[in-house]
Amino acid sequence: MEMNNINIEEIVKQVLSGMTGNGSQAAPASAPKAQGGIPKTARVAMLTGLEHYDIKEFPIPEVGDDDILVKVEGCGICGTDAHEFKRDPFGLIPVALGHEGTGEIVAMGKNVKVDTAGKPVKIGDKVVTCMIFKDDPEITMYDLNKKNVGGADVYGLLPDDDVHLNGWFSDYIFIRGGKFGSTFFNVSDLDLDSRILIEPCAVLVHAVERAKTTGILRFNSRVVVQGCGPIGLICIAVLRTMGVENICAVDGEQKRLDFAKRMGATMTVNFKDHKGIEELAGAVKEAFGGHLADFAFQCTGSPVAHSNIYKFIRNGGGLCELGFFINGGDATINPHFDICSKEITTVGSWVYTLRDYATTFDFLKRAKGIGLPMSELITHRFPLDKINEAHQTNLAMAGLKIAIINE
Ligand SMILES: NC(=O)c1ccc[n+]([C@@H]2O[C@H](COP(=O)([O-])OP(=O)(O)OC[C@H]3O[C@@H](n4cnc5c(N)ncnc54)[C@H](O)[C@@H]3O)[C@@H](O)[C@H]2O)c1
Ligand SMILES: [Zn+2]
Repeated sequence: MEMNNINIEEIVKQVLSGMTGNGSQAAPASAPKAQGGIPKTARVAMLTGLEHYDIKEFPIPEVGDDDILVKVEGCGICGTDAHEFKRDPFGLIPVALGHEGTGEIVAMGKNVKVDTAGKPVKIGDKVVTCMIFKDDPEITMYDLNKKNVGGADVYGLLPDDDVHLNGWFSDYIFIRGGKFGSTFFNVSDLDLDSRILIEPCAVLVHAVERAKTTGILRFNSRVVVQGCGPIGLICIAVLRTMGVENICAVDGEQKRLDFAKRMGATMTVNFKDHKGIEELAGAVKEAFGGHLADFAFQCTGSPVAHSNIYKFIRNGGGLCELGFFINGGDATINPHFDICSKEITTVGSWVYTLRDYATTFDFLKRAKGIGLPMSELITHRFPLDKINEAHQTNLAMAGLKIAIINE
């Protein structure tokens, strides 16, 4: 749909006229369209109970001077969505989920001129959202050194309110301006698949930036990436685009290890082929021609995997632990053998900063440029009304990244 040259006032009028209806009722098969192409209402996939989404229809709110209305094109399903779907650990139900989304600006207030990086935006541009920073003076645009971003909100994990259009599993998302603290980026120069992968890729750009602070990660480093889900696979891709070439992937799923090779891993070790940690560490050492790793990335949520990874790292080596976005329980280590006598430098890594987002856009172009099969990370695509099926497919671990692609 071509949305250029639409008069904002006209849109606002249309939207306002649409708000007199009882939009929060059950969804009709197809939404009534207002003149100018923007419907009066939007479908939102609401997680209303454990393992259950309902497609609801809500009025599209009036677009204020600082707000943006985005027509959603697609959104990836994240591990966090899977946790919400299964157990609602954040107590958000009913909630409009979906934070790995992207779409096209169809209306925006008169004060919206540039994105969070200062790049001009216009109707028709493709955008992604990043974190919502509220009024926290400790967290600023490009300086997050004072504090990490643990406390920030994101669209797709907000409590439901009278706007309702708060997540990307939806026809439209409403990006609130002003004090709400939304951040968003104009990513019109990236294709749809790349845009859907921005959020998970930013996690790895950040992890590699954290790893670099140790001073141990170099071009010629021997690097272990443990876990070849989307996170580990993207980790390999980020390392490859940086010119790191000596990468050993460790997982128990041969299909994932094969894909790791296509992403740029030089060697793979299937932990299921080895009995006990000593034999496994021996296999990693053998893969590196008789050397332990200089650096390791821990990309599983398994405490055993955390305990194991120290055994793959040489004296004076480094570790980046990023696999525990949620509490996966305690892990046992031997402080003498694993850290103290080895002098291992460890960093934790947690989501990303706004600056990492900007780096990620370039990473995605470079990854494509060197022929990494990034789009193949998206193994399944479902329309919005098949969202329950999409989540079940995700839980079954049948593919890698499962995405909702709007029709
Ligand atoms: N730090 C962050 O900000 C951040 C952000 C997103 C996700 N994560 C975390 O990253 C982890 C990985 O995410 P994902 O989407 O790739 O998950 P995933 O479940 O798809 O992949 C995990 C992989 O680890 C493998 N694995 C399990 N146990 C192993 C072991 N002992 N040794 C080697 N491999 C093992 C599995 O076979 C699987 O392929 C999750 O636990 C998630 O919580 C962290
Ligand atoms: Zn995510």
